[in-house]
Amino acid sequence: MARLVIVSNRVALPGEKRAGGLAVAVKAALRGRQGVWCGWSGRVTEETPAAPEIIEGRNLSYVALDLNIDDHQEYYNGFANSVLWPLLHYRVDLAEYSRADLSGYIRVNSYFADQVSKILQPDDIVWVHDYHLMRLALELRARGHDNPIGFFLHIPCPPPDILQALPKHAETLGALAAFDLVGFQTDNDTDNYGKYLETRGASPSRGGRYFEIEGRRVQIDTFPVGIETAIYARAARAAAHSPFITDLLASLGGRSLLLGVDRLDYSKGIVQRLQAFEHLLDEQPKWRGATTFLQITPKSRERAAGYKEMEDLVTALVGHINGQYGEAAWTPIRYVNRSYSRRQLAGIYRCAQAALVTPLRDGMNLVAKEFVAAQDESDPGVLVLSQFAGAAAELDGALIVNPHEKEAVSAAIGHALTMPKEERISRHARMLARISDYDVTRWAETFVARLAEARHKWSLIDGIRHIFAPRTADARRPGRRIG
Ligand code: UDP
Ligand code: G6P
Repeated sequence: MARLVIVSNRVALPGEKRAGGLAVAVKAALRGRQGVWCGWSGRVTEETPAAPEIIEGRNLSYVALDLNIDDHQEYYNGFANSVLWPLLHYRVDLAEYSRADLSGYIRVNSYFADQVSKILQPDDIVWVHDYHLMRLALELRARGHDNPIGFFLHIPCPPPDILQALPKHAETLGALAAFDLVGFQTDNDTDNYGKYLETRGASPSRGGRYFEIEGRRVQIDTFPVGIETAIYARAARAAAHSPFITDLLASLGGRSLLLGVDRLDYSKGIVQRLQAFEHLLDEQPKWRGATTFLQITPKSRERAAGYKEMEDLVTALVGHINGQYGEAAWTPIRYVNRSYSRRQLAGIYRCAQAALVTPLRDGMNLVAKEFVAAQDESDPGVLVLSQFAGAAAELDGALIVNPHEKEAVSAAIGHALTMPKEERISRHARMLARISDYDVTRWAETFVARLAEARHKWSLIDGIRHIFAPRTADARRPGRRIG
């Protein structure tokens, strides 16, 4: 089997814990393979970074790169997280573009390519993840590498009108066309990128998924990322009787548990969710003292645009709601800014009556899938899910809501907390079947297999073209269909 070289901004070294869907998915994709995972170590240096830290394992090796302070600011805080992240989450209003940040992004993509280039072998398959490294194929091709190189975008892809708002978009979004295969979370994302390529003069063939542009050929398609469903379910069962969960349940005093789990990010709709919970307490006083909302929210990207403002808003709103509705013996919202381990989180999911996964935009949202996997099948909790999360295309047993409509979200919370057991079981079973069938292993295998055969597919297309192409004067007679 060819070696799989994964490149992403973040790398989780053995034993390291990282919040964020990408690290969780990549770890699972590499399980049981020969591979290398290359990414930023998380360290920022004052000087030019030292040589990468290389950890060699029996099957897996890791290459961890440091970034210097300017690169970290311009590439990570700047272009990746203050321009691409908001723009691709449909928030053009929050994007803070600067030419210096774009040069930092180009410089760091080139630095990553230099490092990957040193370890790349001719038979390797290269799989690049996420918006930080959109230029990597272009840079690797420029260094003479002809390996199959694929890209997966973990976050949404908006329509071309929004993509074109990005200054010099051809240098970043357009550079994806240098990959052999570009994967997206939903058909909506894939279609949007296809339309963007068309605005750049590419013409689609074979159902709009194959494009030729500027002498390169690229396939695009949908590969919804999954989770390790069976392993997650086992972790939840094992955690159910742990001291950690026993303490949590005891602290609830028999009240139902509503749960939110999100990085502290404006795309997650935390403010709107808190307003919906406030609306519920206001309109339906029977829930006061009867339910507790636990919002687990590890801090994230504190130096990128928009994050501090949103943190202040959330803190103020939690304080306001707790002050307004709290009692001596009951606090409506438990707001926790720390990250929990997978085992702890699995146990918490399992004892929640409902999860509120209500992002304003999300590529997939793995929390939604993890919540489903962690439930007790004979008495499952209910998922309240935003129509704007990629997961909504798969999890049709959830209560699907528009996160902008607080009355509807509040009604869905009431519905979730009172839903009869038979309905909960049948909704949950549908969702569990889907995420068990299409889990993260299947996701990774499907993507890598498609990438390995990407060029072969083009030779088939060439063959078909050749059959229909005008070869003789006879073939070009009027009335004869060619093309
Ligand atoms: N996560 C975690 N500990 C926490 C909070 C979150 O391990 O305290 C994990 C969570 O289990 C999930 C990931 O972080 O696997 C979040 O992924 P998601 O796709 O929901 O959102 P992202 O953070 O990638 O935008
Ligand atoms: C999302 C992104 C990932 C990112 C993660 C955590 O999942 O798609 O690329 O790694 O958030 O964000 P951070 O900026 O801490 O890496």
